Amino acid sequence: MLTIEKLKQNIDLETVTTPSLIIDKSEIIKRYERLSNTIAGSQVFYAMKTNPHEEVLKLLLSLGSGFEISSAAELEKLIELKVPADKIIIGNPLKTPKMIKKAFEYGINYFAFDSTFEIDKLSELAPGTIVSLRVKVDDNNSDWPLSRKFGADPISAIDLLQYAKDKGLKPQGLTFHVGSQCLNPASWSNALLVMSEIFQRAKDKGIDLDIINLGGGFPSQLCKPIPQLEEIKTSINKSISEYFPSKNIKYMIEPGRGMVGEAGIIICSVIARANRGVEKWVSLDIGVYNGLFDALEGVKWSIISDKELNRINHKDQLDKFKVGGPTCDSIDVLAQDLYFPKDITFGDIVYVLNAGAYTSTLSTGFNGFEAPEIIFID
Ligand SMILES: Cc1ncc(COP(=O)(O)O)c(C=O)c1O
Repeated sequence: MLTIEKLKQNIDLETVTTPSLIIDKSEIIKRYERLSNTIAGSQVFYAMKTNPHEEVLKLLLSLGSGFEISSAAELEKLIELKVPADKIIIGNPLKTPKMIKKAFEYGINYFAFDSTFEIDKLSELAPGTIVSLRVKVDDNNSDWPLSRKFGADPISAIDLLQYAKDKGLKPQGLTFHVGSQCLNPASWSNALLVMSEIFQRAKDKGIDLDIINLGGGFPSQLCKPIPQLEEIKTSINKSISEYFPSKNIKYMIEPGRGMVGEAGIIICSVIARANRGVEKWVSLDIGVYNGLFDALEGVKWSIISDKELNRINHKDQLDKFKVGGPTCDSIDVLAQDLYFPKDITFGDIVYVLNAGAYTSTLSTGFNGFEAPEIIFID
């Protein structure tokens, strides 16, 4: 992961504009290699929404990655970069007609779905294409659940696959997402067991499936302990050999956070301090509206002040603070009880660690506070 030490070797803290997101390309290269070795022979489709900066896309393209996308705008960006159609999949079960038409014209031949309505749309606008059924799985072990919005109930899977077949599409795959920032390797094995039961039931009905897409969920090191990729890999591969002995299955993964999260550190500054009753507040120039949106679901990053790094035996020099972003909205809060130096003051540099995923891209510009500029280092 990108360390503060490496960041300081490459970035001049006296002149850097804050907030900035520093991305270490060499970390993305390492993560791509590790993720592409998760399942032998599998294909990686980077979830572009996570960090769609052109430099990130070009780097991953040069490494051989594919891309998982959700919108016409994302597709246009990939077409500009000359990404071939067979390197793009549409993983969002909700698609605009504009995006389906554009994707079909470009030759994309993989669409996720989870309802008959989506099949009606796809059969009209992208006839004959390969479709993968997004199945609802348990996402209780994840910091950012997705199943409360997406995924067909396993019980309706066969009817949906049959409906797609009847409409002239090619129902070839199953896809799932264990939720983003998944903290338990067993989530993937439990999901694979559900997929294997659907595979068998589909086969009995004469529908031969041959694609399993394991989605994203691979975590980055935030505040809570996370399983290492090796543990997740072991759990996945054990389940694959147990539940899917056939060698004729194509495996895909769609990592987002796990690809770029640990490659980035946000450098921000303290813009204000205030004592409100018994509460001590520190305000930063980054918050929920200009990059740290995930805080709204309780995601907690390690947030460290540069001042505290430079001190030895600093524990008695720390105090508990509430930490907020720069906007005038009261939900713009990042932490309720974070330790900072007692003498923290405006202008002090603060780091948000492992913040390469879902940050710059999730910035609204609300109140005039812009997304952190991305600076790349090697
Ligand atoms: C369809 C799909 N695939 C992949 C991802 C990436 O997930 P993660 O960042 O947890 O790897 C997402 C995230 O929302 C998604 O919706």
